[in-house]
Amino acid sequence: MERSLESEVSLIPEIGRHLIGGGGKRFRPLLLLASARLCGYEGEKRYPFCAVIEFIHTATLLHDDVIDEAQTRRGKTSANHIWGNAASVLVGDYLYSKAFQLMKDYGDMRIIGILAETTNAMAEGEVFQLMKCGDPKLTEEDYLAIIDRKTARLMRAAASIGACLAEVPPYLIDAVSEFGLHIGYAFQIVDDTLDYTAKEDTFGKAVGKDLQEGKITLPLIRTLAMCRDEERAFVSSQIMNRFKEVPDEKAIMALVLGYDGIPYALSVARRHVEKGIGALGAFPPGPARETMEAIAYFTIERTM
Ligand code: IPE
Ligand code: IPE
Ligand code: MG
Ligand code: MG
Repeated sequence: MERSLESEVSLIPEIGRHLIGGGGKRFRPLLLLASARLCGYEGEKRYPFCAVIEFIHTATLLHDDVIDEAQTRRGKTSANHIWGNAASVLVGDYLYSKAFQLMKDYGDMRIIGILAETTNAMAEGEVFQLMKCGDPKLTEEDYLAIIDRKTARLMRAAASIGACLAEVPPYLIDAVSEFGLHIGYAFQIVDDTLDYTAKEDTFGKAVGKDLQEGKITLPLIRTLAMCRDEERAFVSSQIMNRFKEVPDEKAIMALVLGYDGIPYALSVARRHVEKGIGALGAFPPGPARETMEAIAYFTIERTM
């Protein structure tokens, strides 16, 4: 990643290092490495693809923070807040195209195809989310369609690239891909619950952001489905008038915590983890499969 950030245009390594130096969990590269090992590949090509996946992810974070007007990312002031929106968008584009450049150098058409489809679906997910922003009638189905594209597909790609590098038969590529997809669902659902319950210090980004932005996620969807009519009307009006008046976050949080918004969302996430682990049945038990299972459980146990 460091090497790929070298550029004569100094703002690129500056912003790149700020974000990449902030660390992050590097969850997607981990998934790629664990999947490659499970499938029996331990060659050199793993590393450029880890960089590819992490660059695509980092590019989406740069763009996402512009869209969400974030102030904090990975425990630091976010790039948009330091260098402005234009610089964040452009360096995000640089990382995207750098990912494709790396891919061309190391990948076959199959992997390039996976990543082309994935990035396109991710953009689609972001646009769909934008269309649905502030709509209190958002259904659980819509929500799942959003997180499928914006998050789960990249996790699926990470897992399937590991398997593609190993050149295992298609049914095994499908098995790890399914694992990655379900883990991705769980990961985003948990992110959305942490947005209600986490501590900013450990989470590394602001809490309660989704509500402020009018982003309706599973804990709130569930609450809106379970609460009384007048409570639903209250939440809807707060969300729809969010530009005129700051929503009464405390009251809405209290409703989400009072109904089963959080445990319900976590139970859906847990189901995805189980489905993901179930998909690994095609592989023999052993340390490599256990690593994949540990990665799956991390998505629901994490606090960061
Ligand atoms: C944040 O992803 C965006 C989501 C998909 C929820 P991560 O939680 O993986 O962010 P970093 O890379 O660890 O900072
Ligand atoms: C994940 O959604 C965005 C991407 C997949 C880029 P969020 O908006 O929830 O991500 P955070 O919470 O800002 O990291
Ligand atoms: Mg965001
Ligand atoms: Mg979030």
